[in-house]
Amino acid sequence: MGQGAFLSFEGIDGSGKSTQARGLAAALRRDGHSVTLTREPGGSPGAEEIRRLVLEGEADRWSPQTELLLFTAARRDHLEKTIRPAIQRGEVVISDRFADSTRMYQGLTRGNLAAEVDALHELMIGVEPDLTFLIDIPPEAGLARATARAGAEMRFEGMGLEVQTLARNGFLALAAQEPARFRVIDGHRPEAEVSAEVYDIAQRWLAARG
Ligand code: ADP
Ligand code: TYD
Repeated sequence: MGQGAFLSFEGIDGSGKSTQARGLAAALRRDGHSVTLTREPGGSPGAEEIRRLVLEGEADRWSPQTELLLFTAARRDHLEKTIRPAIQRGEVVISDRFADSTRMYQGLTRGNLAAEVDALHELMIGVEPDLTFLIDIPPEAGLARATARAGAEMRFEGMGLEVQTLARNGFLALAAQEPARFRVIDGHRPEAEVSAEVYDIAQRWLAARG
C-alpha cells in the first residue's frame, strides 16, 4: 500500500483547474497509483447536496456569513467521508479546490471575512493539502473560458473582471505566503504544456517523499 497524499488545484474560474486535476489523476493512475479525484464544493454525497444550495439560485440567496458556514459544512463532510478515508487507504487524493478557495472568495473577494474564515478553518477543518497547484491565468482569459461554459450554477457568474483580478492577485499572494506548499503554474498555455509541467512536478514530489 502506498503512502497517502493530498494534492489540490486552485485558481480563478476558467483557469483550467478541473481539466488539470482530471489529467493528473489519469496520468498518476497510469503510473500505478490509486487516485481519488474529487472536488469542492462537493466531493461526498452530503457535500454535493450543499453544493446545489450554495451555487444555484439568486445571487442574494445567502449572506456572506451563511455562505461561509455552508462551504465549511460541505468541506467538513468531504474531509470525513471522502478525503481522510482515501488517505488512510494509501491513495493520492486530488481535490479540485479546497480551503484556499474559501480564503479567497469568502475571505477576500465576496465576503471580506478573513478572520472568520481562518477561525472556522482552525476549528472545523485543521488540515492543508500536502501540495497545491495554483493554475494562474490572466482574468480576461479565465472569464472568457468560464462564460463559454455557462450552466445552472450561475450564482457566482457575472462577477466581472474586477473581482477576477482581485482573486487572481489574492491567490498569488497566498502562494507567496506558503511557498513550500504551492506551485504556481502558468495556465495560459496549450493544455498539453500545462499538464506536462503539472505531471512532472507531482511525479517528482511523490518520488521524493518515498
Ligand atoms: P476551471 O475548473 O478552472 O473553471 P476548466 O478546466 O473547467 O477550468 O476549463 C474551463 C474551460 O477552458 C473548459 O472549456 C476547458 O476545456 C478550457 N481549457 C482548459 N484548459 C485550457 C487550456 N490550457 N487552453 C485552452 N482552453 C482550456
Ligand atoms: P467550481 O465548481 O470550482 O467553479 P469553476 O469550475 O467555475 O471554478 O466552484 C464554484 C464556485 O464556488 C466558484 O466560483 C468558487 C466558489 N467557491 C467559493 O466561493 N468558496 C469555496 O470555498 C469554494 C470551494 C468554491
